[in-house]
Amino acid sequence: MINVIGLGYIGLPTALMFAAHGLEVVGTDSNSAVVDELVAGNITFKEDGLKPLFDRALAGSIRFSTDYQIADTYIVSVPTPYDKETKKIDASIVCAAVSTIVDVCSDGATIIIESTVSPGTIDRCVRPLLAGRSIDLVHAPERIIPGKMMHELIHNARTIGADNADTAQRVRQLYSSFCVGEITTTDIRTAELTKVVENTFRDINIAFANELARLCHEAELDVYEVIRIANMHPRVNILNPGPGVGGHCISVDPWFLVGDYPETVDIIRTARHVNDTQPSYVLHRIKEVMAAEDINDISRVGLYGLAYKEDVDDTRESPSLRLLELLGDDAARIQTYDPHVDAGRTQQSADSLSAFLERVDMVVIMVGHDQIRESMQMLAGKVILDTRHICDLPGVHSL
Ligand SMILES: NC(=O)c1ccc[n+]([C@@H]2O[C@H](COP(=O)([O-])OP(=O)(O)OC[C@H]3O[C@@H](n4cnc5c(N)ncnc54)[C@H](O)[C@@H]3O)[C@@H](O)[C@H]2O)c1
Repeated sequence: MINVIGLGYIGLPTALMFAAHGLEVVGTDSNSAVVDELVAGNITFKEDGLKPLFDRALAGSIRFSTDYQIADTYIVSVPTPYDKETKKIDASIVCAAVSTIVDVCSDGATIIIESTVSPGTIDRCVRPLLAGRSIDLVHAPERIIPGKMMHELIHNARTIGADNADTAQRVRQLYSSFCVGEITTTDIRTAELTKVVENTFRDINIAFANELARLCHEAELDVYEVIRIANMHPRVNILNPGPGVGGHCISVDPWFLVGDYPETVDIIRTARHVNDTQPSYVLHRIKEVMAAEDINDISRVGLYGLAYKEDVDDTRESPSLRLLELLGDDAARIQTYDPHVDAGRTQQSADSLSAFLERVDMVVIMVGHDQIRESMQMLAGKVILDTRHICDLPGVHSL
């Protein structure tokens, strides 16, 4: 039996996927509201394909509980924030979960840490909790992206970090119950660093694109044309600029390396700085466009999109929320709308796209949800600042 610990964006789909493929699973979360919702037959966040998977898992053998179970295998998918001061990982939640597992499990169990951790965290913080016990420890970091979780869970390549080949092979077999992607086995520290490096690579690439956007604006050049042509070089692949980097991975994981190697890392810290200051660059552009278009009243300006990326309801580290913070008193006046995020998250939140558009003369596209891509003609006649490069209406302003 598998006991999945932490039923959030990663743990819930993982638990459901195992159960839908015939394994006996208990999903455990310390938040009783999450468990109550799942027991009542409701999923706890929006994700394409999650409800059908939930129904398949319920037809199989899955239960939900706030209690840790006696199981053969534990999968730990609890949050791993970082300390805002030291930038180091805060592994206390992972450690609390593992301590509780150790209290209930029998010798011979396997604990798989799926949570993203900085290199060395498992040896330093988690392994000592297993002292004197015969428990296998594995790190199987998760790579899936919200919005494409169902597809990526099945098709992504995975990494299994283990202390020996037998354990690695057993865990590879387990994930093969649903994963058709290549599964690479390695040691735990390599698996830890690899996961953090993947997200750091993307952070740096996006920071480069964001810096190019600022540079091109100053040089009066089209950054998208520059990137499009540069990417025709066979060995160049620049990502897109945007309003900043949000979510729980790319905007968090690079800090682990800054925290642990403060004297060594340079580009990584700078990239974080560039991406973290991108919402303030967007604010600067909003003011420039308002001045150029003779718009004086911020309450006639609207932010489209509060989530951190397209077609999800996740607002963690969202550039739009950061922009609202930077707006100070004006945050209460600027209009906002996101079809996936509850109206009421902000003070001037509309409950439909048409209601939102009625209130504004200028739209700032912060997120490229399918809804706006498919309704772009509704924005005709508005002043538009498009931070996502998805609008081809005439006169649109870019970053
Ligand atoms: N969200 C993503 O896109 C993503 C992608 C890859 C990796 N990750 C990593 O996966 C991990 C989990 O992230 P998430 O987004 O699923 O987090 P989340 O906040 O959505 O979910 C975590 C869940 O764990 C529960 N929890 C906390 N402490 C617990 C405990 N001691 N026992 C039982 N349950 C507990 C919480 O109540 C919550 O429901 C993090 O390390 C994150 O970096 C996330």
